[in-house]
Amino acid sequence: MAATVFHIQTFGCQMNAGDSAWLARSLRSRGFAQGAFEDASLYVLNTCSVRDKAEQKVYSELGRIARLCGVRRRQGITVCVGGCVAQQAGPALMRRFPQIRLLFGPDGIARAPEAIDRLLEEPSLRLNLLAFADQYEERAGVWQEGTAPASAFVNIMQGCDNFCAYCIVPHVRGRQKSRKPEAVLDECRSLLAAGTREVTLLGQNVNAYGLDGESERPDGAPFARLLRDVAALPGLSRLRFVTSHPKDIAPEVVSAFGDLEPLCPRLHLPLQSGSDRILQRMGRRYDTARYLDIVDSLRRARPDILLTTDIIAGFPGETEEDFAATLDMMRRVRFAASFSFVYSDRPQARAVLLPDKVERAVALNRLSRLQRWQNEASDQLLRSMIGKTATILLEEPSRRSFLSREAADKEGGGEVAGTKPDVFPGGKGTGKQSWQGKTPHGLIVHVPLPPRGKDGWQGVLLPVSIERATKHSLQGKQAGAPW
Ligand code: SAH
Ligand code: SF4
Ligand code: F3S
Repeated sequence: MAATVFHIQTFGCQMNAGDSAWLARSLRSRGFAQGAFEDASLYVLNTCSVRDKAEQKVYSELGRIARLCGVRRRQGITVCVGGCVAQQAGPALMRRFPQIRLLFGPDGIARAPEAIDRLLEEPSLRLNLLAFADQYEERAGVWQEGTAPASAFVNIMQGCDNFCAYCIVPHVRGRQKSRKPEAVLDECRSLLAAGTREVTLLGQNVNAYGLDGESERPDGAPFARLLRDVAALPGLSRLRFVTSHPKDIAPEVVSAFGDLEPLCPRLHLPLQSGSDRILQRMGRRYDTARYLDIVDSLRRARPDILLTTDIIAGFPGETEEDFAATLDMMRRVRFAASFSFVYSDRPQARAVLLPDKVERAVALNRLSRLQRWQNEASDQLLRSMIGKTATILLEEPSRRSFLSREAADKEGGGEVAGTKPDVFPGGKGTGKQSWQGKTPHGLIVHVPLPPRGKDGWQGVLLPVSIERATKHSLQGKQAGAPW
């Protein structure tokens, strides 16, 4: 019998991307085949609810699948919806879209593969896995040689306890649950044994790792210890982590940027606003002075560190003066990149009740001013790389995925949906193909390379000299032997 073909679409943050990668791997190991939208009979949408636009995209995708079921009269289509919209909308989503046969939340995903097997055996069955777990749920599955990516995500926690006033995440991902250090280390070891060279530790607030339920965070050291232990694993070339909440970053984590060789010199540190008054209304529990202190200490520990951030424009009550303070912080810190969004009301988030909502046109205008400034700063940074040499970790043939992030930013904040494999020409007539990789600073470099073995250049560290800067990435040529 031919294998059932599944198609996964992922919306939202890296945690969702990591979840989808695990689910795809798990389904493949159960005998399913991964394929294109047109060829599939099993659809999985792993959804994001962080902004209204992200949620609306899910409904329009569900509409597209429903039309496919109708127009082609295809029988036996199975639709599964997971992630944050599934958790938020719950069984009402199944009533609205009768095609949906499985709902799973961010915790329930651990049991989704078994549930999918059952659905295929029992055509009238519909299931939901929306209960939150009390503890981090381990997911089965070992990495095998040849299946591991050059750069892998490893979850270290689930959920978030912060309840920032604008944010739906704690409501849809549940309370913070840290994974046991041994489980994190075991997964890293098995990835490294299968050929992975870079690990990104994932969580909504990694600095609070190991401090579940402790609101005072007396000690930020458990995450620093985990970093040190992962960094010491043989075979690891590069280590990154995301996301860091400024209020919880421990001095030991800051100093790790100077001490731990594999820890890459780039940090995502969401600022959200440069106005102390707005930060307080957001419930962020740091002010700009504290944020600048952290930036100074990071730059003392690692002078070349690049910082990136998230900014919300038009939070309720934000005045022109507050916004000017945000632009001022951007000038002071000089972020390498920033992801900026227009505020949108989210169900259950406290900010829904705040008065003084900012008019959308005003918020969009602020967003575009902010993005214009950031684009210039980012361009300058990329141009400053021309003529330099850097070692890149090659990940895959070039894609234009970074363009979808740009498009998302332009729309006033959307999510990066699936990426289209849009292979760059490697130079006509040269027989070369373009591959993409990242510098330790996280800058994307495209480089034309000749054909090479079964896995191509995946997982190879390669010195390149940078020749050109494009809108969101660099182009270079090989400048030394691979290792
Ligand atoms: N845990 C991460 C971020 C999670 S959401 C952190 O603490 O930084 C990713 C980003 O989406 C946030 O940093 C914020 O900038 C943005 N965001 C969250 N809720 C939003 C809302 N209601 N409207 C607009 N942007 C929002
Ligand atoms: Fe949302 Fe704040 Fe938690 Fe980040 S730290 S996920 S912004 S509540
Ligand atoms: Fe991530 Fe979106 Fe959920 S940002 S945590 S997928 S709401």
